[in-house]
Amino acid sequence: MGGLPFAYLNRDRRLVVNVWQGPMEDLENLRSELTAAVNAADNLSTLDEIRISALGKKGQITAMMKSLGGLDPEQRKQTGQSLNMLKGEVAQVIEARKSALEDASLNSRLMHEKIDVTLPVRPEQDGRIHPISQTVDEVIAILGGMGMTVHEGPNIEDDWHNFTALNIPLDHPARQEHDTFYLPGAVEDRKVLRTHTSPVQIRTMLTSEPPIRIIVPGRTYRCDYDATHSPMFHQIEGLWIDETTHMGHLKGCLIEFCRAFFGVEDLPVRFRPSYFPFTEPSAEVDIGCIRDGGELRIGHGDDWLEILGCGMVNPKVLENCNIDSTKFQGFAFGIGIERLAMLKYGISDLRTFYETDLRWLRHYGFSTLDVPSLVGGLNR
Ligand code: PHE
Repeated sequence: MGGLPFAYLNRDRRLVVNVWQGPMEDLENLRSELTAAVNAADNLSTLDEIRISALGKKGQITAMMKSLGGLDPEQRKQTGQSLNMLKGEVAQVIEARKSALEDASLNSRLMHEKIDVTLPVRPEQDGRIHPISQTVDEVIAILGGMGMTVHEGPNIEDDWHNFTALNIPLDHPARQEHDTFYLPGAVEDRKVLRTHTSPVQIRTMLTSEPPIRIIVPGRTYRCDYDATHSPMFHQIEGLWIDETTHMGHLKGCLIEFCRAFFGVEDLPVRFRPSYFPFTEPSAEVDIGCIRDGGELRIGHGDDWLEILGCGMVNPKVLENCNIDSTKFQGFAFGIGIERLAMLKYGISDLRTFYETDLRWLRHYGFSTLDVPSLVGGLNR
C-alpha cells in the first residue's frame, strides 16, 4: 500500500514530504502538526502561508487527494473520507485562528489608538448642514425660546386628521386646492400623504390637555412641481392653546418671530385677512421688502411679501378634539420652510434643494458647528 506521498509543515514551517505508511496514524500526525502550526501562527500572513501550503492548489492535503487515484477502490473510499474530514477540520482550525488574530489586533488598536478631539476637522470630512435643516433649527431656536416644544406626526395620514377634523369636510372646496396624493383605498378610510402639518394639531389636542404650546416641523406633500413648488416640501406648524390666549398673542409671537428670523429689528409685519377652514379669524402674514429690479431685500420698503398663514383656532376644531371651546382658545400658524430659506439665503429655485448637488451644498450649506441659537446668533 506504500507509494502515496504526503507532506506536512514541520515546526519551522518547512514542507516535509513523507511516504504514506498507514493511513490513520499518519493523517493523525498531519492533523496535529498542522493544528500546532496554525495555533502558533502569530499573524495573519503566516496563517495564510500555512493555509496555502495545506489546502492551496499545490498544498499537501490537495496533493494527497490527487494521489488517491493510485489506491484500490476500497482503500480509496476509506482514505478519501478521512482526507475530506481532515480537510474540513484544518479549514475550521484556520478560520478560528483567523478570527482570534483579527479580534486581538482590533483589541490592541482599541487599547492603543487615541482620538485627539482637539484636532481640526479634515476638510474632506467637513460635511455641510442642508439649508432646510438649518432653517428648521433656526425656527425651533426662536419659537422654542418662547416656550414651544417640538412635536412630530406621521407623514401618511388618514383623511379625518388631515381634513375632516380640521373643518374641511368632503365637499369643501379647500380639498381641491390641496392637490392631495391619495393612497389606494376606499374613500371612507383612505390614507393621504399629509398636505400640511396641521393634522398634528389634531393629534396633539386629542392626546394632551391645554395649555398646549407646540411646534411641528415636518415634510408635507402636494402634487405640484415648478420653480417655487415641489411635491415634497417642509412646514412648521405652531399651536398655542390656553384659557386666555388671544389674537394679541398671535400677533406678538409672529411679529417677533419674523424680526428674529430675518435679523431686522423693526421689520414691518402686516396681517392681511384671509381664510382657512380651521382658523377664524384667519390671516396671512406679509413682511416688508424692497424689490430692486430682479433683486429682493427684506426690510423697510414699499412692497410686501407673504410668508405664512395663521389664525385663531376655529372653535369647531377644538370641539372635534374634545376641548371645551367656551373655556379654551388659541392660535395656530403654518410656515413654509423652503420659502423662508429661499428668502433668507438668496436661493432662487426651490428645486435645487433636492438635487443633492454637492457643489450647491458646499455653497449654500452650513458648518456642522454653526448650531443656531438666540444667544449665539441666527444671522450672518
Ligand atoms: N395648514 C395651512 C396650509 O398648509 C397653514 C396654516 C396653519 C394656516 C395653521 C393657519 C393656521 O396652508
